[in-house]
Amino acid sequence: MKRETDFTNTLFKSEKKLTELGTRLKKCDVHGEYQSIGRNYFGIHESWSKCPTCESIREQKEIEDQISREREAQMREIKRRLGLVGVPVRFEDCSFENYRCDNDDQRRALSTCREYSENFDYYKTNGDGLALLGNIGNGKTHLAIAILKEVQKRHTVIYVTVGDLIKAVRATWQRDSEKTEKEVLDYFKKVVLLIIDEVGVQSGSDNEQQILFDILNARYNERKSTIFLSNCPPRTYMDGGVQVLGVKEYLGDRTFDRLTQISQVITFNWESHRKIARREWMEGSR
Ligand SMILES: Nc1ncnc2c1ncn2[C@@H]1O[C@H](COP(=O)(O)OP(=O)(O)OP(=O)(O)O)[C@@H](O)[C@H]1O
Ligand SMILES: [Mg+2]
Ligand SMILES: [Zn+2]
Repeated sequence: MKRETDFTNTLFKSEKKLTELGTRLKKCDVHGEYQSIGRNYFGIHESWSKCPTCESIREQKEIEDQISREREAQMREIKRRLGLVGVPVRFEDCSFENYRCDNDDQRRALSTCREYSENFDYYKTNGDGLALLGNIGNGKTHLAIAILKEVQKRHTVIYVTVGDLIKAVRATWQRDSEKTEKEVLDYFKKVVLLIIDEVGVQSGSDNEQQILFDILNARYNERKSTIFLSNCPPRTYMDGGVQVLGVKEYLGDRTFDRLTQISQVITFNWESHRKIARREWMEGSR
């Protein structure tokens, strides 16, 4: 008993050994002069407070990192439940910074996408979206992924191709499916931002159109933003006896009208980047 009291006293005395050392004018390379507060702990350790602006920036960043970690975990869970792979490896490095602009149309496409992502919190209130339409290899997916990376810092975003979306819904029709069709449809209907790629690459069967219409219509009614990407031509045409479906016909008039009503349309119609890259590689290897 006695020993315990002694111990408490010692500890108590040690705690008392925090000495205020007053303040000192210090200088931060970034934020200039500040008053640093000095303390000495237990007569051993002396410490001076750091630049308060730097400290609050660091704390803010820690909070943001924590939120973004939680959001990522949430995204992983959604993707796992949907059986989605997320962003294909090929597009992992895509950003606004590495989108090359050789003409004004590209510059416009880039600035519209960047502006959209930066002001997403505003667009989201109205459910405004984007339609990226045009040639293959023009960087539609590249820019959509760049938007995803930006918006994902604050909101839940799903990127999915029509093919994978239809597959995820159809998978629920299996008798041993873990999830119901409604559950999967609800994810696509409710996620803050849905990016649907490769619209029109699939068959455009009635059933597929119905699933797409159901999701897009629900999002429209709930004012949820959707970005959709397609390399379908604006109108259906015949190519050597083969019908090439236009984006309007693929989606159906109703869905198309609703989508374009709430979306800024960006048209991509320059030379394919894949072609340019191939040519530059050929020239470089000569
Ligand atoms: N302006 C650009 N600057 C840098 N890279 C680009 C640019 N445009 C396209 N790319 C790159 O070229 C490749 C093809 O682009 P992407 O897949 O985004 O085209 P797309 O318009 O989605 O084509 P598709 O209609 O066939 O899906 C990607 O690796 C992409 O990163
Ligand atoms: Mg693409
Ligand atoms: Zn500082």
